[in-house]
Amino acid sequence: MSKNNTEEVKYDGKPMEHEFDGIKELNNPPPPWLMYMFYITVGISIIYWIYYHVSGAGDLQEAEYLNEMKQAEKDISKNVKTIEIVLLNDEASIAAGEALFTEKGCTACHGKHGEGNAIGPNLTDNYWLHGADVKSVFNVVKNGVPTKGMTPFKGQLSDDKILQLSSFVLLKLKGSNPENPKDPQGVLVN
Ligand code: HEC
Repeated sequence: MSKNNTEEVKYDGKPMEHEFDGIKELNNPPPPWLMYMFYITVGISIIYWIYYHVSGAGDLQEAEYLNEMKQAEKDISKNVKTIEIVLLNDEASIAAGEALFTEKGCTACHGKHGEGNAIGPNLTDNYWLHGADVKSVFNVVKNGVPTKGMTPFKGQLSDDKILQLSSFVLLKLKGSNPENPKDPQGVLVN
């Protein structure tokens, strides 16, 4: 054996008592920081067990889940606001409705001035397919008439905006006399 044999090399561990054929086992315990971490986790697990399982002070998964769902339900009911469907006759709302009428492409099917075209009906005359009160118009714009080609806008517009649009339609378009009006469709309203 050379000078570099195992006796010469420095080991942290001390040889243990047994030896066989010149082979020794060295006692190399894990470093203290690792052992402390281990002791701490054992300690924490005991505290955890007592807190959650013995004393029942903490909520277990299921109870926590149910609590969160309850809280979420509360939050939702706080955020969902139901609006009253009445005509908005203030200038700002009507102007907002007018802007939406162009922005949202109502003009594509109802004409630039609501006069109607090959696709959609005239919104300026007194003949209406689905009624000319604010609730009916709101409902048509919100839910559409998919089978007849009227787009539902509920996915794109909030109720507030749909109400602005409906107000614009009823207060500004209805009763206006644009050029090239489409022939009346539906029932005469006053
Ligand atoms: C893709 C074409 C299309 C678009 C876009 C469209 N409409 Fe319509 N709309 C129609 C058609 C078609 C009807 C007729 C439905 C029927 O025959 O029942 C209609 C019906 C209506 C009615 C009911 C008219 C009545 O006589 O009762 C209103 C109000 C209306 N649309 C408003 C709007 C508004 C506001 C927008 C934009 C936010 C819009 N529409 C966008 C095609 C469209």
